[in-house]
Amino acid sequence: MNVREILTTKEGSEIKLNGWVANKSSIGSLTFILLRDGSAYIQLVGKRGFTNDESLKIMQDVSLESAITIDGILRDDVRAPNGKEVLVKDIKVIANADEWPITKSTVTSVKFLYDNRHLSIRGKKASSILKIRSEFITASVEYFTKHGFTLISAPSIVGTAVEGGSTLFELNYFGRKAYLSQSAQLYEEAAICAFGKVFVIQPAFRAEKSKTAKHLTEFIMIEAEVAFNTQEDNLRLQEDMLNYVTSKIAENRAYELSLLGRKFNIPEKPFDRIKYDEARDIAIRHGIEFAYGDDIPTEAERVISKEFEKPFFITNYPLSARSFYHMAINNITSSADMIAPHGFGEIATGGQRIHDYNTLLSRIKEYNLDESSFKWYIDLRKYGMPYHAGFGIGVERCIRWICNLKHIRAASLFPRTITRVYP
Ligand code: 4AD
Ligand code: MG
Repeated sequence: MNVREILTTKEGSEIKLNGWVANKSSIGSLTFILLRDGSAYIQLVGKRGFTNDESLKIMQDVSLESAITIDGILRDDVRAPNGKEVLVKDIKVIANADEWPITKSTVTSVKFLYDNRHLSIRGKKASSILKIRSEFITASVEYFTKHGFTLISAPSIVGTAVEGGSTLFELNYFGRKAYLSQSAQLYEEAAICAFGKVFVIQPAFRAEKSKTAKHLTEFIMIEAEVAFNTQEDNLRLQEDMLNYVTSKIAENRAYELSLLGRKFNIPEKPFDRIKYDEARDIAIRHGIEFAYGDDIPTEAERVISKEFEKPFFITNYPLSARSFYHMAINNITSSADMIAPHGFGEIATGGQRIHDYNTLLSRIKEYNLDESSFKWYIDLRKYGMPYHAGFGIGVERCIRWICNLKHIRAASLFPRTITRVYP
């Protein structure tokens, strides 16, 4: 049994628990340990006369973050966190901990916490965020599986850029150039002709040269691609998926959201849509200028997203702001970004792809891309490629928004940024 299950168990039940000492205190003849077992927190009480003498001594002496195992009786007590506590009969130390290095006086910088991320992930805030992240991914798998998608895996070592050359990590691949994958999209497009609907959940890599609160160099992207879907279908899919996943988080991770003090509203469907031109007008009204045809700069995106209370789409991006594969009419693409509200900004990008052979070939030439490395991708258009659309949603970007985090690194177990590859 874990603590989370115990929180709904009857008073008087015999309890056995394994976990870690998250905190310790004593008042008069009572000794308290706040036990953390990875599912939740519960108060343990040592009481002379009930707890054996040896165990009482252990409860007084045990160091923070030691691993322990206990036997006891469950009691209701309104003063205890969550209204339950365990009166300890017996306690054993399974693994003793040295003096815990993370304390109010030692944590003088964010850097210190991330240099010690192998330890600091045990904290209430860090672990709650990571549990919500786990729910996000599990619920996504559930959503796509329920809707008939096939889970595929694409290579992480690739020969070409999907999202432009400026953020490619280059590898020496046995004397040849190769890259870390920016997106599984092109492989998904091949797979839809085998499976109809596919999705991936895997790392994507971006050599982002700028230090921002929303960029990691390695992150998890959930991507979906569907044969015979239009961009309209694609937008509906994205809002339906996000609505489902966030509902699951609200349902199953209410405890963790409450530990974070986060009041989170599930975004109701449908999401608002604004066109690129309207988004640009909002930015200009806030004094942030950028040329028509440029990608929307981070600062502009921030002020635009502050005008919204739930995620929304920016549609009709000009081709010049987009990758080569986007379907376009008069240089306006059938694509959209999904933007999280309150300044959080882009969380997903998607669109309808070029499925016609000649159109794709001339686009690749227009973008001055190396035709030979895209040969297989172009080739697909010769063998029954229907119209199709898909999207990629960034897990850590979503968690940053859902958990209201200042910086995206808190949404990753061991974040990778321009300045960090340790631990
Ligand atoms: O907007 P992006 O670059 O779109 C694609 O890669 C498409 N090929 C996806 C597709 O259609 N299958 O990346 C998709 C999402 C972004 O909206 C963002 O949420 C996240 O991936 N993302 C990042 N997250 C953290 N750090 C970074 N450096 C990110 N770059 C993109
Ligand atoms: Mg994008």
